[in-house]
Amino acid sequence: MMKSIILRLVVLAVVGATVAGVPAAQLPQETEARKAERMRWWTEARFGMFIHWGLYALPARHEWVKNRERMTNEQYQQYFERFDPDLFNPREWARAAKAAGMKYAVLTAKHHDGFCLWDTQFTDYKAPNTPGRRDLLREFVDAFRAEGLKVGFYYSLIDWHHPDYTVDRVHPQRQASDADYDRLNAGRDMSRYREYMKHQVRELLTNYGEISIIWFDFSFPGEHGKGRADWDSESLLRLARSLQPGIIVDDRLDLDDVPGGWDFITPEQEKVARWPERDGRRIPWETCQTFSGSWGYYRDEATWKSPAQLIELLAESVSKGGNLLLNVGPTARGTFDDRAQASLRAMGDWMRLNGRSVYGCTQAPAEFTAPPNTLLTWNPATRRLYVHLLAYPLDTITLAGMAGKVKYVQFLHDASEIRFRSGNGEAAGDLVLTLPVRKPPVEIPVLELFLD
Ligand code: GLC
Repeated sequence: MMKSIILRLVVLAVVGATVAGVPAAQLPQETEARKAERMRWWTEARFGMFIHWGLYALPARHEWVKNRERMTNEQYQQYFERFDPDLFNPREWARAAKAAGMKYAVLTAKHHDGFCLWDTQFTDYKAPNTPGRRDLLREFVDAFRAEGLKVGFYYSLIDWHHPDYTVDRVHPQRQASDADYDRLNAGRDMSRYREYMKHQVRELLTNYGEISIIWFDFSFPGEHGKGRADWDSESLLRLARSLQPGIIVDDRLDLDDVPGGWDFITPEQEKVARWPERDGRRIPWETCQTFSGSWGYYRDEATWKSPAQLIELLAESVSKGGNLLLNVGPTARGTFDDRAQASLRAMGDWMRLNGRSVYGCTQAPAEFTAPPNTLLTWNPATRRLYVHLLAYPLDTITLAGMAGKVKYVQFLHDASEIRFRSGNGEAAGDLVLTLPVRKPPVEIPVLELFLD
């Protein structure tokens, strides 16, 4: 009797059943130090490329077009039938990313419209069945790896195409009443959809070599919403970690409160006020941002950020201990459009000369105060402090309380010496740096301070 009870408990624990009172099998646990070590390449990289590419590049008016315009599958089908990225050359994409200073890239293997860029065995709704006729994901992976970038996949939990995915409040066919939802969802079976996701995640994390990041997107619990139970988030995550033990995972599976349920948080299109914390501890974070307002290619979108704004965004993220994942929405021909190319070039021009204030850097220790209109970053390994001059000052810039702490100062972009002296009178204890009158020809000049 006792033996059989023990056996049953063991079996329950192993299959991870959520029977009342019996906890599901835990996600892999690790110490904070181990986690930091696993994520180290990512933390040091600081800058990656997000790529949103799919059928929505054809309507070219936002990747949510199917939802916004409440299109049916039939109406959206015209894009599937015409998806033919004849100019797709992922080596060009990879070179553009690398030249911009990016160290990793995350591509939408599947977005909310359910369209798959790879040759999945679990649906016909995939790139190889369009006029494009290729496994676009495979080519992306090969090309980016060849340029030395780490590759990651974005995988949409949401699916506006799959026949078993129930209509919810962010679905193109969303409804006004419970009765209408019931009517539409009769016959749809989320458990089949959950199986489908597992099969696909297994494919993605088995057939494409080492995958460094997976971005599940996204949960919206509540009425006519979806969360961890709808996705079976813990199983998905366990699967991902078992197939790719080093993989870095975002926080959109609705597992915020589950130990091991996420690796980093993802403030979207948002500048954080300070380094985010949980339970009093600073946590890994990455802001994802667009060049303009849309993730997918949007022909008529005009709100493109300037080079100075983009560079500031990157420096700002690093100054608060975070990463920037900057998005490109390629066209349906498979190209980065002129605006995207120009923005990437501007980042690259700056990064080539100033990347040292980004890679391996983080928030400066509290003892250093940023002068007005500057951002500080800090490299703990080299003990160098970087002052990003967002508005170029006249003559001098004063660093409060820094007298006696600095051995040498130079502009980062050309390694030209910046002379300095200790302040006196009201400025006693401060360090006063003398700058050339003319702003050097870099979008945001950086001062590199060698500390004692
Ligand atoms: C959102 C959007 C989506 C985009 C993503 C990027 O969740 O639904 O279109 O892929 O954010 O963070």
